[in-house]
Order: sequence, then structure tokens, then C-alpha cells
Amino acid sequence: MLPAVKAFIAEVRAIYAAHDDMETRFARVRPLLEVLLKDEALNERSTHWPFRNDPARRYVENLLFYEDPDHGFVLNSLMKKPGEVTAVHDHAHTWTLYGVLRGGERVTRYVRRDDGSSDTRADLARVDDRLVAPGYIDFVRPYEIHVEATGDQPTVGVIFRSHRVGDFWQNYYNVETGDIAKSKGPVQIPFDLS
Ligand SMILES: [Fe+2]
Repeated sequence: MLPAVKAFIAEVRAIYAAHDDMETRFARVRPLLEVLLKDEALNERSTHWPFRNDPARRYVENLLFYEDPDHGFVLNSLMKKPGEVTAVHDHAHTWTLYGVLRGGERVTRYVRRDDGSSDTRADLARVDDRLVAPGYIDFVRPYEIHVEATGDQPTVGVIFRSHRVGDFWQNYYNVETGDIAKSKGPVQIPFDLS
């Protein structure tokens, strides 16, 4: 394990042991992720990570670097090619710090204008839209709706999540029609960071 990642995990484990509520945990993990995103060894290593998403087939994968055996948090990467756009989606009940390690993209946030009671239909309003650069961290609380569109460079995200995703349903939203589809989210690919 890269020294910076090893140190990050040790500090996160200490935070989780000391605090029970997710707002506090994520507020304290966020500055650690800021430091990790500046790590030169991690940046260099990321130039060898694979880009294998195929949005046309709805295939998206996350590299899975670490899953904590006691607390369940994970460290992932999402690799996106130039011009690649995610679905408009949420992460269900999980909490996320999505950090940009390399590249650049447009991050757009939505909220539901309806009462949120329907599982199949949603009326979305765009509430934030910004171009982001390496070092940016998007804090995504449970059920917050967002989309990322990569610019003209490949974009590497390093993601801290409260839980491993890929084996429960997440919502994918069609902004135009209002339809909600269910997806199991990105496929988790164990990946050695040593
Ligand atoms: Fe996301």
C-alpha cells in the first residue's frame, strides 16, 4: 500500500473509532482526502490505472483499493475517458467524498421538486453546475442527485465512500422525462495499490 494511502486509512480508522455520526466523520475525513489528492506517488501511480467504462453498454467500474473490515468504508477510483458522462444518479443510503485526482470535469447537482415519495418518477431542478479541477471534492450525502461530465482530458476520481457500492439499487434519473431507473451502480474491481 502506498505510504500516503496507508496513512489515510489509519487516520480514517481513528476518526471512525472516535465518532459515531457520519456528518462528523465525513467533515474530518475531508481534509485527509485533500492531502491524499496532492500526493505525488498516488498521482504517478494513477497514470497506470485502466479506463474500461463503456457508457453505451452502461458498464461502469470502480477500482477498489481498500475496504475496511471493521467500519465498512472503502477507497475507490473512477476512471473516465475524455467526454465521458455519468448517469444522473444518487448513491442511495451511502455517504461519499468524491475527489478529483487528475483531469477536469463539470459537476452538476439536482434536487427533487416533487415530494420525493415516488420510486419511479422525479421532477428535478438543477441547483448547482460547476467546472472542477484536481483537488476538488464533492461531498455527496445520501440520495443527493448529481452528474459528472468529463472535459477534454481523462479524469481520475479518488472516492471515499461509507460503504462498498455495487450490490444494492441506486437511482438513475432521466431529467427530461422524469423517469427513475434502478441500477446496481459501478462494478467493484479489487485493485492492488502496493
Ligand atoms: Fe456519483
